[in-house]
Amino acid sequence: MTPLNFDAQMMSRCLELAQRALGQTAPNPLVGCVIVQGEEIVGEGFHPKAGEPHAEVFALRAAQARSRGATVYVNLEPCNHYGRTPPCTEALIAAGVRRVVVGMVDPDPRVSGQGIERLRAAGIEVQVGVETEACQQLNEAFVYRVRHHRPFGILKYAMTLDGKIAASTGHSAWVTGTEARHCVHQLRAGCDAIIIGGNTVRRDNPLLTTHGASDRNPLRVVMSRSLDLPAIAQLWEVQIAPTLVLTETGANPEMQQLLREKGVEVVELSSLTPKEAIAHLAERQFLSVLWECGGTLAASAIADGAVQKVLAFIAPKIIGGEMAPSPVGELGLTAMTQALPLLRWRYQMIGNDLLVEGYLQP
Ligand SMILES: NC(=O)c1ccc[n+]([C@@H]2O[C@H](COP(=O)([O-])OP(=O)(O)OC[C@H]3O[C@@H](n4cnc5c(N)ncnc54)[C@H](OP(=O)(O)O)[C@@H]3O)[C@@H](O)[C@H]2O)c1
Ligand SMILES: [Zn+2]
Repeated sequence: MTPLNFDAQMMSRCLELAQRALGQTAPNPLVGCVIVQGEEIVGEGFHPKAGEPHAEVFALRAAQARSRGATVYVNLEPCNHYGRTPPCTEALIAAGVRRVVVGMVDPDPRVSGQGIERLRAAGIEVQVGVETEACQQLNEAFVYRVRHHRPFGILKYAMTLDGKIAASTGHSAWVTGTEARHCVHQLRAGCDAIIIGGNTVRRDNPLLTTHGASDRNPLRVVMSRSLDLPAIAQLWEVQIAPTLVLTETGANPEMQQLLREKGVEVVELSSLTPKEAIAHLAERQFLSVLWECGGTLAASAIADGAVQKVLAFIAPKIIGGEMAPSPVGELGLTAMTQALPLLRWRYQMIGNDLLVEGYLQP
């Protein structure tokens, strides 16, 4: 095996380890670390959640004395500052490692490059940029949050081949097949919140959990101005997963009280827009939110700059219906030349359905 291949392989192992904490690290990144002597792995670790030790510390603990003279692989630049835990750079230096291979530089301008500099100053050989694209992809929400100080927004919808997300009656279970729905459950497991609007609660009574794809469920968020919501809904069963209802100041006090009695958190914002909702979720340290709403709210979210990535599942079937809803409502665009292009798009089959994903222009 050439050294380059070996480095890439070890970095992939770091990413695998990092993903064990998928959806659990906010506001921190997903990080995995592997320590190698020759070609033998002598220690591994990952960052389980904010407040707990970083991946490097777990890997060093596992390797013990065998970290002396070893090569350390880590998908994100080691930290060089005192946060909730002491800097990993100092731990690596103290352990006497010889070489550190870093997947990507930390995007935070306040720390970016300093961890690498510190290690080099201590005489450790540092190589940067192995499997960088995969490293960037895994932590895209973290990178976005660091740069923009708000969570990364993903809009996901399922539509028929003729572009409908429900029949004209509003019936929508199910547009896609089992595999695509399982894929959505996994997607939820990696997000901190799922957002829908009041209308989707009234029409679909959704559950919005990971259905066992993970032992953790994201926060379920309902945006409703009217608070004209059903007294009984799956989303109000908070022993399954927590639910937050965002509304406007003074809306429907009786409903607010009823929801609070059921254990649903209700927060009144001065104006209920996707932008305000995102600002509120940013305060909760969230990295990523999944918009699983209908077309009206999806259009508002896009217009408000709250959507960065789009995942569209397309089912090979036709429902028709002039009044059947479509995934994105009014955006005020009048010419096809104004259409928002998806960047870095890719297509793949998930069971019988097609998944098209891509990024909106920043
Ligand atoms: N196939 C799919 O992927 C999929 C996914 C989700 C939904 N659906 C379908 O979509 C349909 C519902 O579509 P919808 O567009 O009415 O969805 P929605 O997700 O309920 O969004 C609209 C609702 O959001 C609330 N809202 C709060 N602030 C808003 C703002 N600033 N801008 C816009 N809305 C705001 C309003 O609730 P209040 O009226 O309570 O104030 C509004 O009625 C249903 O038939 C459902 O089956 C399909
Ligand atoms: Zn660290």
